[in-house]
Amino acid sequence: MGRTLRGLMVGAGYFAPIQLTAWRDVSGAEIVGLVGHRDPQRVATVAREAGVGWSGVDLDAAIELLQPDFLDICTPPASHGELVRRAVAGGVPVLCQKPLAPTVTEAADLAKFAERHRVPLVVNENWRWQPWYREAKRLIDAGVIGRPFHTTMRMRPGDGWGENPYPDQPYFATMSRLVLFETGVHYVDTARFLFGEIEQVQCVTATVNPAVAGEDLVVAVLHTTHGGIVVYDADRAAVAETVRSLAYGTMSVEGTEGTLQVADDGRMTLLHRDGRVVEHDYHIPPGWKGGCAVAAQQNFVDALNGAAIAETPAAEYVRTMRVVEACYLSAAHSRAVRLWPQRSWAGVLGPADERPM
Ligand SMILES: NC(=O)c1ccc[n+]([C@@H]2O[C@H](COP(=O)([O-])OP(=O)(O)OC[C@H]3O[C@@H](n4cnc5c(N)ncnc54)[C@H](O)[C@@H]3O)[C@@H](O)[C@H]2O)c1
Repeated sequence: MGRTLRGLMVGAGYFAPIQLTAWRDVSGAEIVGLVGHRDPQRVATVAREAGVGWSGVDLDAAIELLQPDFLDICTPPASHGELVRRAVAGGVPVLCQKPLAPTVTEAADLAKFAERHRVPLVVNENWRWQPWYREAKRLIDAGVIGRPFHTTMRMRPGDGWGENPYPDQPYFATMSRLVLFETGVHYVDTARFLFGEIEQVQCVTATVNPAVAGEDLVVAVLHTTHGGIVVYDADRAAVAETVRSLAYGTMSVEGTEGTLQVADDGRMTLLHRDGRVVEHDYHIPPGWKGGCAVAAQQNFVDALNGAAIAETPAAEYVRTMRVVEACYLSAAHSRAVRLWPQRSWAGVLGPADERPM
């Protein structure tokens, strides 16, 4: 085993303490410093509570002083570009929160910038590491439900109603692009993880809560290159039985031989064609959303150490963001949008948009 990698984290808001807690369970790395801005008191408190020895508000000074092996960015998307470029230009590998940038073009530019400098840039996409999705992937790949042809990912966090919605992340209310950009990107990435590339989307959006600027209701139909359909059915204004439940909602994967159901507490059930209904037992690790932050951060460290392949490098993640962008385009123009046109489908899909995004 190599030496322990030393990370420097940027950001001290809602998600930073969750990410810092997760770092304590990652082997082969530790966070040695925390950088924020505007509120040094808050940065110092977050660092102290997480047992991080150094905190400050000057990134360049922190890099100079601590000489980190990697930068862990946990700040809003609009700030990612500048922070990524500063680290990459100095040869420091980066783990950066999703969405990588405010637009696909900026995300693609960042991916190219990192590639040119030959510095790893990985998106911290922890959703696909939730244990129910890992287990679903294992069961699907083992053929337990036959060929999956229809999946519904039903997102119902129940936290977006009233004059002061989203108490954990109040900035959500002011985002002009909300559910698809902020949270849908997790689901698109997870759908790609489970079922492969998405070649066409049809999407409708609505704003239900008058107190929010962006869309809080999304129904996106994603067509995979394998002929499957994934429905991302997201409603943050609706009532939920459990607010911000462990799995944020439910999933049902319908296959030719059976259906796999994931409940909002992560429990799994298999419905077989012969009528059997079987509770599927599997391990849900402790930690935030079944240890998914630990697992995603571990994958990054393992990749830096050459012990694994990073699952969500920036260049790959741009594809996920293209699908999200296609959903916005589809909703705005009330029509299907094709991402990777296949010649055999030419003329079949009608007025689908084939412009590269
Ligand atoms: N499942 C998940 O992985 C998950 C969950 C929540 C948030 N996120 C993502 O994490 C990121 C942060 O979200 P949040 O909810 O913690 O946001 P937040 O607004 O609560 O916190 C952002 C923090 O970044 C700091 N910051 C902003 N610009 C900075 C800069 N240039 N230099 C240093 N610090 C800076 C702010 O002062 C603040 O402390 C976003 O990209 C968000 O999408 C991911």
